[in-house]
Amino acid sequence: MGSGLLFVLVFSTMSLITPISSESFIKLPSEGAVFSSRKVRADDRVYCDSWRLSVETNNAGIWERIPERCTRFVEDYMTGGRYRSDLDVIANFSSTFANSVKLAGDGRDAWVFDVDETLLSNLPYYENHGFGSEIFNETSFDDWVNVAKAPALPASLRLYKELQQLGFKVFLLTGRSEYQREATEANLLFSGYSNWERLILRGKFDQGKLATVYKSERRQELVDEGYIIHGCSGDQWSDLLGYAVATRSFKLPNPMGNQWRVN
Ligand SMILES: *[C@@H]1O[C@H](CO)[C@@H](O)[C@H](O)[C@H]1NC(C)=O
Repeated sequence: MGSGLLFVLVFSTMSLITPISSESFIKLPSEGAVFSSRKVRADDRVYCDSWRLSVETNNAGIWERIPERCTRFVEDYMTGGRYRSDLDVIANFSSTFANSVKLAGDGRDAWVFDVDETLLSNLPYYENHGFGSEIFNETSFDDWVNVAKAPALPASLRLYKELQQLGFKVFLLTGRSEYQREATEANLLFSGYSNWERLILRGKFDQGKLATVYKSERRQELVDEGYIIHGCSGDQWSDLLGYAVATRSFKLPNPMGNQWRVN
């Protein structure tokens, strides 16, 4: 192969790949420093991409840790353009569906959002905790929650506002606990969310319940109040499964883990 042709091949491949991996949508404190010296091996990339698909489709079921060989892959995914692109595409499918819904128009048309990794991004926290490869530490995560400065996922904020304009009542159903209400509200307002109909957190009697059970019970309460849950968005399958499920459920990506949502 002539070097000219090689150059053209390499150059055109680079120009195809570069735009998607070069930019992060959430500014991280150590941006540039962490990622520049790291590369995911080609065989790891293929395996980890398959692993990620299995996680996102729930074929993996409940899983504990990122496979060791995939830690860097997850880091690249979360901080690169692919995560943002996935979120954009999902938000657009959600929007297309929302626009197709024939609203009852009586104030009972509902959409349910999870909070963490759905409306708010905890990437600045996870960056300092191995992108989910470390055992989840509830104490340090609670400290981070209290800072109340998690940024919005831009695609989710756009969808959130559009749904409200369309006439949906927005309910926020989170695995966070009542004692975190104030910090959670402050953080949501800080990152641009407002006018939610209700923020539902785990109360005293919800502690220790499986997330699927707790969230289904709370959705059932909404249904019993007369709400029609047209859509539901969450990064965990436990946000979407169970009963009183939405007409359409939208699974946002999260290959970092689900340890703390399991119980
Ligand atoms: C999603 O929708 C927005 C707003 O209509 C549009 O600007 C954007 O290009 C769409 N993105 C994708 C990935 O389809």
